[in-house]
This record gives sequence, structure tokens and C-alpha cells, in this order.
Amino acid sequence: MRVWVVPMMLLLGAWSVAAVPVGPPVDPETRAERLAALRPQWPASGFPLPPAPREVDCAKVKCVALTFDDGPGDHTGELLDTLAEHRARATFFVVGRMVEENGGGDLRRMVAEGHELGNHSWSHAQLTGLSKEGIRSELRRTQKIVKRETGVRMVLMRPPYGATDRRVAEESRRQGLAQILWSVDTQDWLDRDTSVVLRRAVRAAPGSIVLMHDIHRTTVEAVPELLKGLADKKYTIVTLSELYGKAPALGRRHTRR
Ligand code: NI
Repeated sequence: MRVWVVPMMLLLGAWSVAAVPVGPPVDPETRAERLAALRPQWPASGFPLPPAPREVDCAKVKCVALTFDDGPGDHTGELLDTLAEHRARATFFVVGRMVEENGGGDLRRMVAEGHELGNHSWSHAQLTGLSKEGIRSELRRTQKIVKRETGVRMVLMRPPYGATDRRVAEESRRQGLAQILWSVDTQDWLDRDTSVVLRRAVRAAPGSIVLMHDIHRTTVEAVPELLKGLADKKYTIVTLSELYGKAPALGRRHTRR
């Protein structure tokens, strides 16, 4: 018995000594751990609360609003990780049908992480081709599902294809929505090429609204370099409400600050 106990203790002792790290300390943080620490928590029941508003005055500092349309999709979570790592806030123009299909998890995370939500219609219909009732229902259904999933009443809309007219403007105003277009078009739906998307997006000037789509992997993969490029040029990445400093005026079409 004694013969066994001693070697076992020696063995355990040797093992525990070997487990103590030697040499220079290594950074134990993996990307997953860093992201987990950044991720806000909210009660399983009830809605996420947005973080405190930031003190950013886009009349004084260089701001760019990045906007992502047509989601939520398969790559939205990865994009949210990237934005969180860079402490960048963006605006997501969501399609109601995509929220219905993919659930509200990504949207709740957007709210909790300070991003802004906008209405991009229910079915990505060209609104100018619809009846008044058609336009109303496309916008209203999306308002409803986003409210149900996040508690947020959206105040921004972007007409699919940028197609708008007097009737779309009227209905938007009636539903309390400002129309937001863009000033920098990355055409990322056409060119599924990360370096092309990056080159176009990085051309943003102060006050620009950049149009991108989080449903494309190539776009989401361009965002880390884009955020670095814009940070090098001393830009702050803001939501549309931060860009305007208040909710943009209803009815009017907005393409930049
Ligand atoms: Ni779209």
C-alpha cells in the first residue's frame, strides 16, 4: 500500500508543477472570449434595452453612417460581432419577411448593442408599383413584427431599390417614418467581391450614408478592413439618428447628412 501511495503523490506533485505556466505570459483571450465579454445580456423574457446614447456631434467630427439592408440573414451575426469589436454602430433596414423567417434574435441583439433599425418593407416589393393599400401593408406589417420582436417602433424606412414617389412619401409620413436613401452605393449585391466592396465603401466622405447588404458573405467579410480604413481616416461610425443628431424629418428623402 505504502509503496503505491508515495509514487502516486510524487506523480501528482510532478503533474501540478508542470501545469504552472512557464515563460512569458500569453494572452489567454480568444476572439470568442473577447466577444462573449462584449455581448450584452438581457432577460430571456422582455425586450433588450439600448445602451446609453453616445456623445457624438457629427457637425463637429467626421461621421459615416453604414447601413445594411435586406436582412436579417445568415451572416448578420458575424457582422454584429465585427461591429461590436470595433464599437461601431450601424443601421439595419430589415425586411419583415426575413424577420419572420429567421426570428428576432439578431434584431434584439442589434437593439442591445446600440444599432438602429429601419423598415425595408415586408417582401422587398417595389413600392411605387403597388396600390396605396399595398404600400401601407408592406410598411405596417414590418413595423408590427419588429415591434413584437424588439419593442422598438422604427422611425426610418428605406424603399426597396430606392424606388419612391409621392404616394410612398405620404404613406411613410403617415406611419411616422423618414425616408432614408444613400450617398455611397457599394453595389455589393452585384459585385460579390470583398475588395471591390471595400474600395467603394471606403470612399465615404463626412456625412455619407453607405449602402450595403448584410445578406452577402462578401460584404460582411469586407467590414473589418472597412472599419479599420475609416478609423485610420478618423471617422466615427454612427447610426442615422446620431448622424442627424435627432430623428430625420419625416416625408423628406435623405441621402446624406
Ligand atoms: Ni433592399
